[in-house]
Amino acid sequence: MTYYSIFTRILILFLAPFMLLNSGYSQSETSAPPSIGSEEVESKIDSLLELMTLEEKVGQMNQFNGSWDLTGPATGDNATKRELLVSGQVGSMLNVITTEATREAQRLAVEETRLGIPLIFGYDVIHGYKTMFPVPLGEAASWDPGLMERSARIAAIEASASGLHWTFAPMVDIARDARWGRVMEGAGEDPYLGSLAAAARVRGFQGSDLSDARTIAACAKHFAGYGYAEGGRDYNTVDVSTTTLRNVILPPFKAAADAGVATFMNAFNIVDGIPATGNSFLQRDILKGEWDWQGFVVSDWASVAEMITHGVARDESEAAYLAATAGSDMDMEGYCYVPHLVGLVESGEVDEAVVDDAVRRILRVKFQLGLFDDPYRYCDAEREASELLTAEHLAEARIAAARSCVLLKNEGNLLPLNEDMKTIAVIGPLADDKDAPLGNWRAQAETGSAVSLLGGIQAQVGSDVEVRYAKGVDLAIGTRNFALEVQINETDSSGFEEAVAVARGADVVVMALGEDFLQSGEARSRTELDLPGLQLQLLERIQAVNPNIVLVLMNGRPLALTEVEPLVPAMLEGWFGGSEAGNGLADVLFGEVNPSGKLPISFPRSVGQVPMTYARHSTGRPVQTGGLVFWSHYIDESNEPLYPFGFGLSYTRFGYSDLTLDSESFEAGESLRVSVQVTNEGKRSGEEVVQLYIHDMFGSRSRPDKELKGFEKISLEPGETQTVEFEINVEDLAYFTARNQYEAEPGKFEVFVGSSSREEDLLKATFELRD
Ligand code: NOJ
Repeated sequence: MTYYSIFTRILILFLAPFMLLNSGYSQSETSAPPSIGSEEVESKIDSLLELMTLEEKVGQMNQFNGSWDLTGPATGDNATKRELLVSGQVGSMLNVITTEATREAQRLAVEETRLGIPLIFGYDVIHGYKTMFPVPLGEAASWDPGLMERSARIAAIEASASGLHWTFAPMVDIARDARWGRVMEGAGEDPYLGSLAAAARVRGFQGSDLSDARTIAACAKHFAGYGYAEGGRDYNTVDVSTTTLRNVILPPFKAAADAGVATFMNAFNIVDGIPATGNSFLQRDILKGEWDWQGFVVSDWASVAEMITHGVARDESEAAYLAATAGSDMDMEGYCYVPHLVGLVESGEVDEAVVDDAVRRILRVKFQLGLFDDPYRYCDAEREASELLTAEHLAEARIAAARSCVLLKNEGNLLPLNEDMKTIAVIGPLADDKDAPLGNWRAQAETGSAVSLLGGIQAQVGSDVEVRYAKGVDLAIGTRNFALEVQINETDSSGFEEAVAVARGADVVVMALGEDFLQSGEARSRTELDLPGLQLQLLERIQAVNPNIVLVLMNGRPLALTEVEPLVPAMLEGWFGGSEAGNGLADVLFGEVNPSGKLPISFPRSVGQVPMTYARHSTGRPVQTGGLVFWSHYIDESNEPLYPFGFGLSYTRFGYSDLTLDSESFEAGESLRVSVQVTNEGKRSGEEVVQLYIHDMFGSRSRPDKELKGFEKISLEPGETQTVEFEINVEDLAYFTARNQYEAEPGKFEVFVGSSSREEDLLKATFELRD
């Protein structure tokens, strides 16, 4: 007897009027599940809740780790987990992958438990499942939401073909401290760009119909403030003001909620002294209150139990109480809800309505995914065999790798590489690394499966070009282990001589330097932002014999390149570019693709400058006066970044002129049109990200000097001019004011349009918002 016949019988017996569930498994028999919040779904949930014991309800709020991957400290043993699974005390599992494994775990849930409620399987599909795309920070450098949506779409197709229903992505944390290893996982420092990226990625993962077996539920994380860890040290204390929370941190989460994201994940950190996991203000007042969001919140890995070590809960029972009442609907690997929540309800400490609300939210997403129609709809072995790592997916990954590149320097137009070149020396520890480009959070990508830079170059040059290669130095030593610290080589320079010999006399040297891919990601904070190990020394040695160097950077965070930059005429930021990294880089190096990426995060001159953002608030003493020392500055470094937010060169040049406003002022209900002429003044066609920033000159709270409020990526032929128009309305000027409301305050504003956030790259005008 199958699960559905049991369930159907129970329903017929007790709830005939509500009997709406399908009992068939085959795709053809299923109809698309009604959308979230529909009366039909809600009444099905009512029916189910009526049937559930308190233990079963709490079981839905429990998520266990499977044994296929480990993405946090190991807890629990498999025998206990299995027991809980078959007794209906597990609502979800993470790190169970492949159709075979998910089918078996699902079978236990639907065929061996009393009610047979299907599990939802989650996994960290961060920048691809098998086919890797550039790390999210790199992809954000494309300033191309369409591209971000497509890569998430492909990740969803592959993950769902492998049995998964749910990704713990996108990470939408705003990050302004390059020391924090997880900057690689988000869209950078800016709430506007971050909001567009968040919405694009949600659309990509979820598509327009979650019940489509080729889409998966997304998860906006980590709610909230996780990117503001003090000192950039992962999991550390977060202490942010209301201004920062409301105006900087929350907007991308709101954008994800507005895009219909099915789930949220809370965070490890405290916010105003209260762990995000037990934070009612964030989860109940804002997310489920102000925003009226209907999905469910999963805790981060063991973050419910970690409230004890935060010193906020005395024991697991209190942790369960605090988390559940604050709106954490599902306990990821926390082992707090199952043992304690039933007792807490029975003793009257937790209202059963709290549990019902959490379960309702979880079941709603399961309905939305179509799991009640067919719990095995994502267990299609044929799809798994044919839809992973396809030529089409790899082609998209190559485009993404190229479009994520940011050209930081190109003295004397060294790039694109000249076709008459006869000898290319490819040097560096990352030059022929087929693994590093996959980056951290690489899901099921096969180790060593990326196209290396050397591979990409070799595939692109003709047989008359000699490509010489030397590694020069090892970046890291020892075997890679995702759970351990990476060991950087600080001593062995025995490869230098060979590299020098390879570089000597070559027409050009392409060097690949950067970080080990395990230096960014979770728990990978750094105190230095330099090129780790002996890479700078290698660069100096090469530069001494052949200064014609194109430096290709691979890294998951901004680096402080102040010492590096003067040594090379050309520098291309390639991030960890994914499965097709080498091909994408070669496309850019040889001019097949004209680079159009712009930095989504400032690159500091020195680690002492971070945290850093272009959107800074003016101090009372922003500039030097009278030659005296009393102004806001460093005595040993400039205040400016080496490369600002929004910066990126092209093989052509873009000129900006005629910044025009259609009015000097406007009021609520009206809008202002801003236009600018952009001309391709060079000899190649190219794309430019035209950026619009605003400065609210006087507010009830101090406003940043500049805030990105719009951009457009345009394509221009040589000599072509295009008029780019932006519309500004009151919503664009609104922020969380001193009256604790999102509103625009009348007064004077500056508007800037140009090619980066840097003053000299912008045209400026002023306008007024009338009362
Ligand atoms: C902890 C991380 O903070 C979170 O982002 C991730 O989704 C979970 N582990 C699950 O792997």
